Amino acid sequence: MDEIQQLVRDFADSARRALAAGFEVAEVHGAHGYLINSFLSPASNHRTDAYGGSFEDRIRFALEVVDAVRAVWPDHLPVFFRTSATDWLTENPEDDREGWTGEDTVRLAKELQAHGVDLLDVSTGGMVRDAKIPTKPGYQVPFAAQARNAVSIPTGAVGLINDPRQAEEIVATGQADAVLLGRELLRDPYWPQGPRR
Ligand SMILES: Cc1cc2nc3c(=O)[nH]c(=O)nc-3n(C[C@H](O)[C@H](O)[C@H](O)COP(=O)(O)O)c2cc1C
Repeated sequence: MDEIQQLVRDFADSARRALAAGFEVAEVHGAHGYLINSFLSPASNHRTDAYGGSFEDRIRFALEVVDAVRAVWPDHLPVFFRTSATDWLTENPEDDREGWTGEDTVRLAKELQAHGVDLLDVSTGGMVRDAKIPTKPGYQVPFAAQARNAVSIPTGAVGLINDPRQAEEIVATGQADAVLLGRELLRDPYWPQGPRR
């Protein structure tokens, strides 16, 4: 328990350092099998104390980190939360392992909104090594849309979004409020400015 409280303070300290370094957005990383994600998911969290077991207990650490970061991060600057919206177990009829689901993400999103998170960055996977992930363009967007319909904070869609029309359609059709890009911006940092003449 002492170690958990120290970890919560460590997250707050890192936010303090990011602020001092001039960053204007703090993103709490609750995805991809990292520490916070490992508390959230029933696939990894087998604790029997106040930080494991029920949904409320598994999300406790995430909310404590968010509270600690929000407390040191200025009100006028945003805090994002990156989530793995699914462990990709329940989507696979051949996999009967218990995992984190899109419905869990909706429940978490409501709590995150109440705890002062400004944007939910919706990724997936990374917790269960051998989960089958049906990767294709925009494959994570439905999870952003599912969360967006349930909360009033903005959501961001991410993952194999590499065509400007695809990005525009995601936002224009209300599936997400923002599109977050990874590899495409490494390939072409001027991508948002449109095709080069
Ligand atoms: C080699 C590689 C390493 C990554 N490492 C991280 C990471 O450490 N943290 C993270 O949040 N996302 C990580 N990602 C995921 C990206 O942030 C992004 O969500 C992902 O690449 C999907 O977006 P894209 O298709 O636009 O690249 C990684 C992706 C790749 C391909």
